[in-house]
Amino acid sequence: MKYIEYADILENTEIENTIYRMTLVCPKIAKEAKAGQFVELYTGIGECLLPRPISINEIDAKNGRITIIYQTVGKGTQYFSTLKNNLKIMGSCGNGFSIDQNIKKSIVVGGGIGIPPLVELCKNIKGDIEIFLGAKTKPILIEKLSEFGKVYVSSDDGSYGFKGNVVELIESVKPEGEIIYSCGPKIMLRELSKWAEKNKIKAQVSLEERMACGIGACVGCAVKVKKDGDWQNLKVCKDGPVFMSDEVIWDD
Ligand SMILES: Cc1cc2nc3c(=O)[nH]c(=O)nc-3n(C[C@H](O)[C@H](O)[C@H](O)COP(=O)(O)OP(=O)(O)OC[C@H]3O[C@@H](n4cnc5c(N)ncnc54)[C@H](O)[C@@H]3O)c2cc1C
Ligand code: FES
Repeated sequence: MKYIEYADILENTEIENTIYRMTLVCPKIAKEAKAGQFVELYTGIGECLLPRPISINEIDAKNGRITIIYQTVGKGTQYFSTLKNNLKIMGSCGNGFSIDQNIKKSIVVGGGIGIPPLVELCKNIKGDIEIFLGAKTKPILIEKLSEFGKVYVSSDDGSYGFKGNVVELIESVKPEGEIIYSCGPKIMLRELSKWAEKNKIKAQVSLEERMACGIGACVGCAVKVKKDGDWQNLKVCKDGPVFMSDEVIWDD
């Protein structure tokens, strides 16, 4: 079920250049939220009427809180970075990751600003985890994710860790695992999907499609998904953001 709450802001701190961590008090949303879901944040300002989707980074259901991590890229996120209190949010949205607790070894992959939801994901995985993070320069949350398993890091410019993209890093390490969970830019997920198929590992991909309504009422976030030998348009905001990689039609 989705709720709208006017959340108290306990923290809204710049943790790295243009990257903010915000902790919100929203008991109804926190109680039902799960890893890989997102919340819609409202600005209340005229030129930004559409809500902005941001993944849930951590859930503290007991204390009715969630944490999000966001990058300031435009008017909406710039506005959120100035807030001290009282943010209208809707959540929790989307399907989230489907975590199989019987799996002994998981591979977790994140790219850029797709890394934050992997923290709550890793908190909920029972077996061993190997984590692969990539970004243009140094990926965020390396230290936090090291709490859950061995972390391998790449940067496009070679300034931190392996020089290259995260899929090239994975190809060089050749991890073994029964499942891949991932979140990041579509191009990264597409390449990861090819690697997963080649290595016969099932992969869940969390897509960061641009959204409009965020509630399944328009077609602003359509993704083509295979269905019974044909294909259908699904909505990332409602049917996703997490899909099985071998069901997504990547080349459109
Ligand atoms: C399911 C989902 C989860 C997300 N989780 C996070 C998160 O945890 N942290 C985070 O920082 N961001 C996340 N995003 C992206 C975030 O929603 C956008 O950055 C935000 O809406 C931009 O709003 P704005 O008003 O600041 O920028 P706008 O003025 O709307 O856009 C500024 C620039 O950002 C680009 N942009 C906007 N939306 C997206 C998008 N969805 N994907 C890629 N580029 C985009 C635009 O093309 C433009 O170049 C997520 C997006 C989705 C769909
Ligand atoms: S954003 Fe409108 S249907 Fe997904």
